Amino acid sequence: MRIDIITVLPELLRSPFEHSIMKRAQQKGLAEVHLVNLRDYATDKHKSVDDYAFGGGAGMVMKIEPIAACIDHLKSQREYDEVIYMSPDGELLDQPLANKMSALKNIIILCGHYKGVDERVREHYITREISIGNYVLSGGELAAAVVADSIIRLLPGVLNDETSALSDSFQDNLLAPPVYTRPAEYNGWKVPDVLLSGHEEKISQWRHEKAVERTQQRRPDLLK
Ligand code: ADE
Repeated sequence: MRIDIITVLPELLRSPFEHSIMKRAQQKGLAEVHLVNLRDYATDKHKSVDDYAFGGGAGMVMKIEPIAACIDHLKSQREYDEVIYMSPDGELLDQPLANKMSALKNIIILCGHYKGVDERVREHYITREISIGNYVLSGGELAAAVVADSIIRLLPGVLNDETSALSDSFQDNLLAPPVYTRPAEYNGWKVPDVLLSGHEEKISQWRHEKAVERTQQRRPDLLK
């Protein structure tokens, strides 16, 4: 899968894709993340990507020309399944949406800034708007990193044990059960006996019960 992220701050986005699972996914050739600097597509001599809002008011608006030139250029190279705009107005990211997007081949993610993008970009280029939560960030970059991470870790072969993405919280609308590692006792605090029993069936039943219990306590909305 290929993800092109269009941003005015490519440096801000470099690190999340240079470590751990995201790095390995790219090294294995399972994911390609390209950071595209919007300023490279600015046409005026000041390389401007924003301008004053028509009608007045505080805050700048991202101009259509550089964004259009950038997306048109990318689209001339390959076909894209989605052109996503990161925005607090978008549909909320959840696990089913991440699952759905992990089946796509090429996507573009546009990061907004300032007061947002010229509405004509949203009308004519954007196919999906995604929010990562009901709060406002200072730009779409951190949100784009969250979306890309949630997708890339689901690609087949990215996680060592392919089943481990399936046992994540939310995959079956349940939170994950508690986990423990050595030592079996610390400070008098013991790991539940069943996990040390070696009895696979009992362990998986215990984990399911704990997942349901935790979901009931913390996120009863998921069980509806
Ligand atoms: N840009 C600013 N806030 C955002 C949010 N909550 N989700 C996605 N993109 C954003």
